[in-house]
Amino acid sequence: MNKNAKWIRPTIGIGEVCPDFRTAFAVDKKVVKAEAFVSARGVYDLFINGKKVGDGFMAPGWTSNFARVQYQRYDVTELIESENTVSIIAGKGWALGNIGYHRRPAVDCSMIAVIASIELEFEDGTKQVVATDKSWDVYKSKILFSELYDGETVDAGAECEFYGKASFDTDSKPALVEQVGEFITERETVFASEYIVTPKGERVIDFGQNMAGYVKVRIKANKGDRIVITHAEVLDKEGNFYNANLRVAENRMTYICSGEEDVFAPRFSFQGFRYIRLDEYPKEEVDISDFTAVAVYSDMKRTSSFVCGYDKLNRLYSNTVWGQRGNFIDIPTDCPQRNERLGWTGDAEVFCRTAAINYNVKRFFNKWLGDMKLEQLPDGAVFGIVPGITDCGNKISAAWADAAAVCPWEMYLAYGDKDMLREYYPMMKKWVEYMHGAGDEEFLWLGGSHYGDWLAMDAGYGTYIGATQVDLIASAFFAYSTSLTIKAGKALGEDTRELEELYKNVRAKFRECFMRDGMPTYYSKDGKRSVAYNNVVTEQSRSGVTQTAIVLILRFGLCEDCEREGLVNKLCELIDENDGRMTTGFVGTPHILHALSDNGRADVAFDLLLQEKNPSWLFSVNRGATTIWEHWDSVNEEGDMWSDKMNSFNHYAYGAVFDWIFGDMMGIKIAEGGEGYKKLEICPIPEKRIGFAEASYESDHGEIFVSWRYIGDKVRYEVRIPEGIEATLKIGGMSPRKLGGGAYTVIK
Ligand code: BGC
Repeated sequence: MNKNAKWIRPTIGIGEVCPDFRTAFAVDKKVVKAEAFVSARGVYDLFINGKKVGDGFMAPGWTSNFARVQYQRYDVTELIESENTVSIIAGKGWALGNIGYHRRPAVDCSMIAVIASIELEFEDGTKQVVATDKSWDVYKSKILFSELYDGETVDAGAECEFYGKASFDTDSKPALVEQVGEFITERETVFASEYIVTPKGERVIDFGQNMAGYVKVRIKANKGDRIVITHAEVLDKEGNFYNANLRVAENRMTYICSGEEDVFAPRFSFQGFRYIRLDEYPKEEVDISDFTAVAVYSDMKRTSSFVCGYDKLNRLYSNTVWGQRGNFIDIPTDCPQRNERLGWTGDAEVFCRTAAINYNVKRFFNKWLGDMKLEQLPDGAVFGIVPGITDCGNKISAAWADAAAVCPWEMYLAYGDKDMLREYYPMMKKWVEYMHGAGDEEFLWLGGSHYGDWLAMDAGYGTYIGATQVDLIASAFFAYSTSLTIKAGKALGEDTRELEELYKNVRAKFRECFMRDGMPTYYSKDGKRSVAYNNVVTEQSRSGVTQTAIVLILRFGLCEDCEREGLVNKLCELIDENDGRMTTGFVGTPHILHALSDNGRADVAFDLLLQEKNPSWLFSVNRGATTIWEHWDSVNEEGDMWSDKMNSFNHYAYGAVFDWIFGDMMGIKIAEGGEGYKKLEICPIPEKRIGFAEASYESDHGEIFVSWRYIGDKVRYEVRIPEGIEATLKIGGMSPRKLGGGAYTVIK
């Protein structure tokens, strides 16, 4: 960005209309190179000579509001002519629009500011710079209203009047940095699949796939005719349009026709939807080919594939991938539809391994973790939401804030990039230091305010925090994050002695207080802490022996080896007592299958994976889910909604099960010291009920492929390893084999 570029904004109040900042310039020499640099407080589209520059959507993206804002750089050499017009249309976006649970007082669009420079290099070596300053004009655009949650109003026939000259924007703004993450772009196109007139008489179009993005509408109607569309993820029990779960987010698009053929789509808003309702539409007949849904999300490269002989699992896999698509829109969000769409750290903490299998998310996480690092408090605290917002997510909660240690470590495992790990190592350490000082017991984290085993089923129906003691969860994560920070420190050649000492103490104290006779136990330092969660006291909360407690102890290495058998047996017993089902929530679920198969009970892990009763992954699949639901039973057995208040149908967290499918069932595991898929263990666990399965991963070294297929009682394994990767093949009943690059077949 050229230093002469200044932040500019409209001089007068302009209400809800998105401003269009314009200038013109001439060139009289041959241009050899031209680059544009642009940013906004808000979101923008840049046009040169009427052509949209780049394929980005909602640039400059969402970064920490107070710490940094990205600018984008575009090569515009091909667009420059002798006479040129420049236009930057901008909307409120994340910086100025409504964000969070509570409505903010409406912000006038004159608060939107942009900064830009176009830098031209001529054949004779001279240069010219066109930069934002007070000479730029501000016009009214055709976008009459735009809000992230509420949608957009576009008048295609609007006259774009002149509002006056721009003025300098003197409000302090965060530092400008060159783009760190990926652009958000238009990705899959989904054609409308069905036109429905609901029992209430609503005109509804079904796209067949829940997703995040928008619907493009093509229409030729009279000037001034209106199209009003609202969005929904599901129909209700009776087949009527249902959008109460979007809460106050209106998700409403209003399009006013120009009289010519119009193609409408929002520029500064997106929706989470599968269905649209035509609240106003000027034609009697609805031709669904005039409606096309477009998924928008960060431009990440797809890196894996999976297919198996059990169709419901294929659907689950697709739901997981679509869950990521709908929620990796510049930052990892909880959901893309209601008035949240926020960077909830806990959701990313549980899903980041799966995310890195599905797509290359290195740049994506590098950007988000950069904001987390900037927002970490001096004492090491990390909030529940990054980038932070003012009205929610202010808890410093175990398993949420632990994203500060888990995500950098998982990114290192996936990509083996030491520079990236070095960048976040201080944040990991500071987070551990925070926990060290957080509780009223040096080596445990007692007290505090946590989200617990969020949405677990063992504290009574309709409750939010499961029965697992939050102090146990917090102290277990204290140990886990410390162990990951030690690993990171060792990988970087740092002195980790102090951390190792701390880990020893935390683990010992955890065992002393939260374990008795090799089992988890309820612990209260002063005997005063309540065993009730959500005012419900269950046998499990009283004893402390919950599925999630056992799972964390097994997964985080908090037990001795001799205790493993007893713990896994108890876990199986609890599953059995619950009619073969889990009771785990956000914290326990991502680990439960691992805890079982790592400890010799892959059979029970498969039972859970293939379970169809609520709660289970296939419960939602059986009910036609096309993405992962927030609750196990977002729609319950009776076809009723869990609640209107908090019920997303596109919440990727439980999709974390795919890291087990890929790493354990398919057995593609990164071996100790093999970060970035340099060294693997290939140790698949075939399952007869599934019949066959195959998965691939596109690593930096080439494609890794594993398949297994039952042929009678035998299994045929096929493995392909690219050159440059070392792998050890571990198949039951066979001694381990070292594999180099090549293709291998085993029948066993
Ligand atoms: C979000 C979750 C998030 C949680 C915190 C919810 O409103 O949608 O996914 O992690 O709050 O407990």
